[in-house]
Amino acid sequence: MDATQQANSAGTEAGEAKVIVRNLHKVFGNKPELAMQMLKDGLHKDEILKRTGQVVGVQDASFQINKGEIFVIMGLSGSGKSTLIRLLNRLIEPTAGNIIVDGEDVAAMSRDKLLNLRRNDMSMVFQSFALLPHRTVIENAAFGLEIAGVNVAERERRAMEVLEQVGLHTFAKHLPAQLSGGMQQRVGLARALTVNPSLMLMDEAFSALDPLRRTEMQDVLIKLQQEQKRTIVFVSHDLDEALRIGNRICIMEGGRVVQVGTSEDILQRPADDYVKAFFTGVDTNKYLTAKDVAQKGEVTIFDRADDSVAGFSAALARMQLYNRIYAFVLDEQQKVVGVVSAESLTNCINQSGKTLRDALLPGKIAIAGNTPLNEVLQKVVEYPCPLPIVDENGEYIGAITKTVLLRKLYKEKKA
Ligand SMILES: Nc1ncnc2c1ncn2[C@@H]1O[C@H](COP(=O)(O)OP(=O)(O)O)[C@@H](O)[C@H]1O
Ligand SMILES: [Mg+2]
Repeated sequence: MDATQQANSAGTEAGEAKVIVRNLHKVFGNKPELAMQMLKDGLHKDEILKRTGQVVGVQDASFQINKGEIFVIMGLSGSGKSTLIRLLNRLIEPTAGNIIVDGEDVAAMSRDKLLNLRRNDMSMVFQSFALLPHRTVIENAAFGLEIAGVNVAERERRAMEVLEQVGLHTFAKHLPAQLSGGMQQRVGLARALTVNPSLMLMDEAFSALDPLRRTEMQDVLIKLQQEQKRTIVFVSHDLDEALRIGNRICIMEGGRVVQVGTSEDILQRPADDYVKAFFTGVDTNKYLTAKDVAQKGEVTIFDRADDSVAGFSAALARMQLYNRIYAFVLDEQQKVVGVVSAESLTNCINQSGKTLRDALLPGKIAIAGNTPLNEVLQKVVEYPCPLPIVDENGEYIGAITKTVLLRKLYKEKKA
């Protein structure tokens, strides 16, 4: 079994692997083997530093990054985030371990092949973009392609396309100094995007921006990601940023990966006190969504045109059985048609020629599963019935009731 298969068979993550990191280590210093041996013997990195002067930057990191996701690496300053992301494209040479990108081990790659990969398929964006001051915006954006030897017409055509995506096409002929900091940052992003990499590495790329510009850049990134799914590894020390843009988050402490998961995984099941401390004071309702708390306990009725009277009685019987006064009506595709109550059903039975659709209560109340929980709160309070939650196709996922929500909030408060 090769390293790729092994990591896949570990089977912890769903999704197709773009990057697999296995037992990755980085020791800074002149005696890395000694430090590695001491790590094997179970010594702590602080002890190793004290005794040998060797700095353990990353210790035994193993995880998978899936194709098309934004994978955020988060942790306090000095926890090893920059070291880890630079190991991925070997700006820093690993001391031990594997970095498998698209099935190939970057750690074992020849220098030429590596350079080629960095130019064509793996862009890196840093906190300071270091734009070339005497070159125009479009020349800066096209710089990566210039290095790769693409001719000027083609590279300016592609740069212009990307400048449009980041909203800077009208500034193509300006010099960087004529732009605001936020706009310069977008030129840097455009430069990374122009080579159209399938993997983007971003180290605190937005950290130098003021909060407003920063949110704006996050939105640009999210929008770009919706248009074209790249794999993005994004280092941030900012929790809000991580939760906002990350599909999954990897939390580092003292050179080690302590947890990898979705924001929900991490909020609900923090691996240890360090992770928990990160989230203290976070308004979790902002990050949990409707589908995270939806439950399947409500009565659903299929809307069948043929036999509506039998349908009514069966529906009423089931509602009685489960002690419910409301039920959701679904069509054959599981889409939510609406809500009925015991009363509206009974009224229809008493009048002949009525169908299930006549019993529907007024109003469309289905809520998209990705709605933030704090936006759901008000509706749950306002509506007398449970709220049906649907996926992106409008199909029924479950329901949120006042009881479910109260239990959830009470648990959050206690935690
Ligand atoms: N070139 C280097 N030489 C020695 N130690 C380093 C070097 N680069 C980073 N380190 C150390 O490695 C650890 C991780 O640093 P870094 O990856 O930059 O953390 P972060 O990006 O999370 O702030 C720190 O203790 C840092 O001092
Ligand atoms: Mg850093």
